[in-house]
Amino acid sequence: MDQDIVEATSKYLFPNYGRIGLAFERGEGSYLYGTDGKRYLDLVAGIAVNSLGYAHPKWVARVQEQAAKMAHVSNLYFVKEQAELAEKIAAVTPGDLDRTLFVNSGAEANEGAMKLAVRYTGRGRILSALNGFHGRTSASLGATGQTKYQQSFESLISGAFRHYDYGDVESVKELLDKDVAALLYEPIQGEGGVVSADPGFYKALREVCSDNGTLLIADEVQTGVGRTGKWYGTEHYGVMPDIITMAKGLGGGTPIGAVVSTAEISDVMTPGTHGTTFGGNPLVCAAGCAVIDAIREEKLLENVASLGKKWISDLKGIRSESIKDVRGQGFMIGVETDSDETARRIQAAMRENGILINVCHGRVIRLIPPLILTGAQKDSFTSLLKEIIA
Ligand SMILES: Cc1ncc(COP(=O)(O)O)c(C=O)c1O
Repeated sequence: MDQDIVEATSKYLFPNYGRIGLAFERGEGSYLYGTDGKRYLDLVAGIAVNSLGYAHPKWVARVQEQAAKMAHVSNLYFVKEQAELAEKIAAVTPGDLDRTLFVNSGAEANEGAMKLAVRYTGRGRILSALNGFHGRTSASLGATGQTKYQQSFESLISGAFRHYDYGDVESVKELLDKDVAALLYEPIQGEGGVVSADPGFYKALREVCSDNGTLLIADEVQTGVGRTGKWYGTEHYGVMPDIITMAKGLGGGTPIGAVVSTAEISDVMTPGTHGTTFGGNPLVCAAGCAVIDAIREEKLLENVASLGKKWISDLKGIRSESIKDVRGQGFMIGVETDSDETARRIQAAMRENGILINVCHGRVIRLIPPLILTGAQKDSFTSLLKEIIA
């Protein structure tokens, strides 16, 4: 790739990202075009962000139109596009969760949700799962149950957090007392390697939290906005949380996060209790409206549900020592390989052959493509995977 980009990056940017040696000029549909002149099928989608792929005509039109009118105005005023997007979110969110707070990222959505729970319950403790991931700001980092992310930042994390074993309701019960304001769960642990528990576990979470007066928060930052073939991952278990957080796919590439809850709970956030300058500005809300409209109009939930099911079954059919497990839901699929080395080699070989994939938790290939991916595109990954491991 272009060495000028590499040099300027190392000279002028913080070295906090380990980057793959690629840069891109533009994207179209599910393809990215590299500065190397090559076309790549993108099964990463900016880490589950580009739900409509790249340069989706309806999304581009809405964002361009809004940018030409007014990108930002602040929450000092009423924001029409915010109200429009919040109404659309309420329409697709089950139960009585019909109030939204807009923020700028997944971590901030979780921070907002935790503040809401603490204020509503008057309690101070938060439970979250080991091997979970909730973000990198202080409270979301505290909730992230993986020491590798917390190392060297312990001083910034308060004593509010306790971690339960994902899938084990007994470990939740041991930690649950009258100090616990909220319990966070990912319907499928994403960064943790595309891991889910028995459906009964999520139902039990709902029950024990209700019994204890603890709010249940579904972190749908990765699983939300259609990624699993339903609007929310938690819908697969028939479990209604008290608060849902989302981000990633909502803006189709613009930075937006959201906390969704009931009128009763959200009413405690009176003026001045929380806020963010950019949160829900007209530009990102217009983008979010375009995403929700396109998912509905183009029946993308159906696309994700049916192709995802077929994809998982095709991948499970591959007989190889290199593949230990295939799991997931919709377009959030984990292919666990036999070692970190195998996963890295498959990733490099895919890249050589024009397909971008993500590896998480060391040895898990994570497929999180745009929701517009076609059957032929998913099959090209499966065929290439078979060739590579053969
Ligand atoms: C489940 C979950 N929660 C929160 C986050 C943090 O989101 P962000 O990186 O937008 O702060 C992520 C990011 O990967 C995530 O997967």
